[in-house]
Amino acid sequence: MTAPAPGEVHVWLVDLSTPESATADLARYLDPTELERAKRFRTAAGRRRQIVAAGALRRVLADYLGLEPGAVGFRVGPCGKPELALQHGVTHLRFNLSHSEDLALVAVADGAPVGVDVERLRIVPRASQLARRYFHEAEIADLETVNGLEPESQAFLRCWSCKEAFVKALGEGLTRPLNTFAVAALTTDPARLLWDGRDPTSPAKWGIADIDVGPEYTAAVAARAPLRVRRLRFDPVSPRLFAPGARPERHT
Ligand SMILES: CC(C)(COP(=O)(O)OP(=O)(O)OC[C@H]1O[C@@H](n2cnc3c(N)ncnc32)[C@H](O)[C@@H]1OP(=O)(O)O)[C@@H](O)C(=O)NCCC(=O)NCCS
Repeated sequence: MTAPAPGEVHVWLVDLSTPESATADLARYLDPTELERAKRFRTAAGRRRQIVAAGALRRVLADYLGLEPGAVGFRVGPCGKPELALQHGVTHLRFNLSHSEDLALVAVADGAPVGVDVERLRIVPRASQLARRYFHEAEIADLETVNGLEPESQAFLRCWSCKEAFVKALGEGLTRPLNTFAVAALTTDPARLLWDGRDPTSPAKWGIADIDVGPEYTAAVAARAPLRVRRLRFDPVSPRLFAPGARPERHT
């Protein structure tokens, strides 16, 4: 697979509800720590999803790097963000992973940090109270504007996924207080970073995009602006990255 062009992010959709045979194939790529981690999930579905997500991540990255999946090495940043290990030399490939129930996304960019988040649409108890407590006032106002036009939990999760994609791109994750920056995700299309209390130049430098992942999930990716997203589908059953005949989908 050719690395993403400058400004482009490849987002791989991975169906985690994979048949047992494909799960066993993907498990062969994992190292002992990854296998041990998967074993700690209490349910069979949890174990399967963890193995498929970690195996798919290795297969996707290996294809860009021209390696066997088991040979891909990782290191972690100060707040736990996985990155490619230095053994891969001066590769500029950056990635991020997110999973929710039966869907995982692997975002890949070249030379720029990237963050991705997917959320299964669900009822979030007391969503508006949570927003008032943790979100920026501009986002709370946005949520009030859409109130009634779409379910409260859905709007909350849409805004949440844009925010989480941004803090995952930074590598800080949820250690970053969510009211120290603001996204416009609900009344603006495309979404964008509105304000960053730590770096006033951020809104010009970062792009945030919603990713269409079907009616049951909401998802977003954050990377350096201008951001173009190419959506691709990973087929765990095929030895090739996507199913024969399936064409990569382009989405901006
Ligand atoms: C990382 C975090 C954002 C994940 O949120 P989530 O909604 O549960 O999970 P997602 O499915 O979207 O993402 C999980 C993936 O993000 C990646 N990830 C882990 N830490 C990350 C970070 N700091 N930044 C970006 N990505 C990270 C991993 O690939 C992880 O996959 P894995 O769980 O299979 O290992 C959240 O757990 C978090 O912020 N935790 C706090 C981090 C922390 O306290 N670090 C130590 C002190 S700085």
